[in-house]
Amino acid sequence: MKEISNQMEFEQTLARVSSADRPSLEDLVALLSVTDKSDLEKIYAFADRVRQEQMGEGILLRGIVEFSNECDGTCHYCGLNRNNARLPRFTLSREEIIESVGRVVSHNLKTVVLQSGESSKLDPALFAEVVRDVKSRFDVSVTLSVGEKSRDAYALWREAGADRYLLKIETTDEKLYAALHPGMSFGNRLRCLRDLKELGYQTGSGDLIGLPGQTPLAIARDILFFKENDFDMIGIGPFIPHGQTALAGQARGSVDMVLKAVALTRIVTKNAHLPATTALGSMGKDHRIDGLKAGANVMMPNFTPSPYRKMYEIYPDKRCVEEPVGQCAFCIEGMAKSIGRCVDYGKGDSLKKNQKEGGR
Ligand code: SAM
Ligand code: FES
Repeated sequence: MKEISNQMEFEQTLARVSSADRPSLEDLVALLSVTDKSDLEKIYAFADRVRQEQMGEGILLRGIVEFSNECDGTCHYCGLNRNNARLPRFTLSREEIIESVGRVVSHNLKTVVLQSGESSKLDPALFAEVVRDVKSRFDVSVTLSVGEKSRDAYALWREAGADRYLLKIETTDEKLYAALHPGMSFGNRLRCLRDLKELGYQTGSGDLIGLPGQTPLAIARDILFFKENDFDMIGIGPFIPHGQTALAGQARGSVDMVLKAVALTRIVTKNAHLPATTALGSMGKDHRIDGLKAGANVMMPNFTPSPYRKMYEIYPDKRCVEEPVGQCAFCIEGMAKSIGRCVDYGKGDSLKKNQKEGGR
C-alpha cells in the first residue's frame, strides 16, 4: 500500500476520496494511516465541511433505553456475553419501558432507541405489543437494536410501528468476525441487514475500531461496505476491553483512528447519520466533542433508569452511568453551544430515505 509523501499528494488523495463513486482501498488506507497532527486536523475539517453542507448545524438526539442485558451471545469483546457470570441480569417490565420512553418524550426528544442483548428470552409477539403501545401513546420514532433475529420477527415489529433498526457489522473482515463471534455467522449478519432494508426499516450499521488483529485495510473495507449498502445510520466507536471477556487486557482502540474512520465515513457516505458514540466519550476525556467536529451529527443520551443503567456494562467506565435520568440531554445542549452548534429536536429521519422520496 502506498504512503502519502507530500502535501499535494495528501490533498489530492482527500479530494479523490470525496469525489469518487467508489473510492479506492489504497486511497482510504493511505488516509487512515495519516498520523501527522496537522494532516489529521485537515481530514477532520474536510469532514466537518461535508457534515455542514449535507446535515446542517443541528445535533440530533436519540434517547436510548437499554431495557435488558440478557444475552445468549458470546461476542469476545462484549461485557454482556453470556459467559460473564459476574454480571447481574435484568429486564425492564413493559410498564418500566413505557415510563422510560415517557421520560425521553418529556425531554422533547422524538426518537427512542430500545436496545438489549441478543436473547431468545425476548418474545417477538410480546415485544411487538410493547412497540405498538409506545407508538400509540407517544409521537416518537422507534429504533430497535436487539441483535440478529428472524425475518418474521423483524416483520412483526415493523408492522407494529418500529421505524428504524441498528445492527452493526462490527467488522467486515470475515476471518476476524469469525474469531470474535463463536457460533455466529457473517452470512447471517448480512441476511439480517438485507431483511431489515427490504422490510422498510431505516437501517443502521457500524463497526468497532481497534479490535485486536484489525488492520487499516479492514477499516477501509468497512467504509466501502457502508457506502455500498447506503446505510441510513453508521455508528463507529472504539473497542474498549472488558475484564470479564476473552479480550480482557488487550489494548483499546485509538481515538485518532476512530476520528479518522468517522471523518472518512462522512466524506464517503455524505448524508448518513453518524453518532458521536458514547464509547468515544468513555475514553478518559469526552472525545464525543471531537467526533462532532470530525463529521458526526447525532448523540444518544441515556434514559435507562437506575439501578439498571450500571448493569448494562458493555465495556468498563461507560460514561454517564451515575447521572440522573435526562441529565445527558441538558449536558448535550451545553456541549453543542460550546462548539457553535445547536440541538435539533426533530425526529431526524434518514436523509437518504427523504432523498429516495424526492426531497429533504
Ligand atoms: N444486541 C444488540 C446487537 O448486538 O446489535 C445491541 C446491543 S450490543 C451490546 C451494542 C453494541 O455494543 C455492539 O454493536 C458493539 O459494537 C458495542 N460493543 C460491545 N462490546 C463493546 C466493547 N467492548 N467496546 C466498545 N463497544 C462495544
Ligand atoms: Fe450524560 Fe453529559 S452526556 S451527563
